[in-house]
Amino acid sequence: MNGQGARLRYSDVTPERLWFDRRRLIAAATGAAAAGLLGLPARALEYRKSGYSTGDEPNSLSDITSYNNFYEFGTDKGDPKRYAHRLTTDPWSVEIDGLVARPGSYPLDDILKGMPLEERIYRFRCVEAWSMVIPWIGFPLASLLERAGVEPGARYVAFETLVRPEEMPGQRQPILDWPYREGLRLDEAMHPLTILATGLYGQEMPNQNGAPLRLVVPWKYGFKSIKSIVRMSLVEKQPPTTWEMENPREYGFYSNVNPQVDHPRWSQATERRIGASLFSARQPTLMFNGYAEEVAGLYAGMDLKKQF
Ligand code: MTE
Repeated sequence: MNGQGARLRYSDVTPERLWFDRRRLIAAATGAAAAGLLGLPARALEYRKSGYSTGDEPNSLSDITSYNNFYEFGTDKGDPKRYAHRLTTDPWSVEIDGLVARPGSYPLDDILKGMPLEERIYRFRCVEAWSMVIPWIGFPLASLLERAGVEPGARYVAFETLVRPEEMPGQRQPILDWPYREGLRLDEAMHPLTILATGLYGQEMPNQNGAPLRLVVPWKYGFKSIKSIVRMSLVEKQPPTTWEMENPREYGFYSNVNPQVDHPRWSQATERRIGASLFSARQPTLMFNGYAEEVAGLYAGMDLKKQF
């Protein structure tokens, strides 16, 4: 990782309007409990800006934290904000196992020690054909995998979310086959655009967005970006993933954003940017969500209609 770039706080670079939104939210909260209910992140993070950011204007903090998919808290877009404040995220550790030289339980505090955080403003495209632009704070997944020491036979990384029905009301029902599972091919996992995010808008990750640590893979549909990760396994075979297990006809392992391959029940050619006026036009979806230059090479020679 390059060590350049001044350390900045979000307030140095945030357009005034967004900053104002945040202050207004905080003003509406009385005390820490109310802040928790609103799902406001607790601590400011130190980070530097990264060159990987898009020039698109970020969505507001309130859009990003009130329209969520996190089925562990329910299937309504408002459920994560309503219920995720109950999740305890400290202490937290991630089990790294399988084909690694240094398997074990990695406490998050240790992971973050000496791991430079960067802000990356990424386009985020959900399979449901809406999109947002989110100023994540995180670090490349590759940096953590290198610490664990990936062994030669490893070809995929499998990820799992926490199972804790006491704090995750959605898990008291068989909405999905818990834990939520995701996977990447090793070259996708090692790609510099793939990050583990620990925050957004300069603050620790709001619980509803996947605190304290979630994956972000900006060229893939949003469901690949698994939240509240407790386990990463380096494996030889393509691992089972939640949505492919649920419905393999509709959801594939790769799930690269691809306007030419429709979902069986709806078009993927356009998207609705959350927060845009109801009257503004849907925008065309870009191949690999606009990251084709960086990632198309990973899929050279593959038939993306078959391996969707
Ligand atoms: N991770 C877990 N553990 N559970 C989920 O239900 N939903 C996915 C993904 N990660 C999900 C998850 C889906 S469908 C999307 S679109 C994104 O999280 C939404 O991320 P956001 O709420 O931060 O925008």
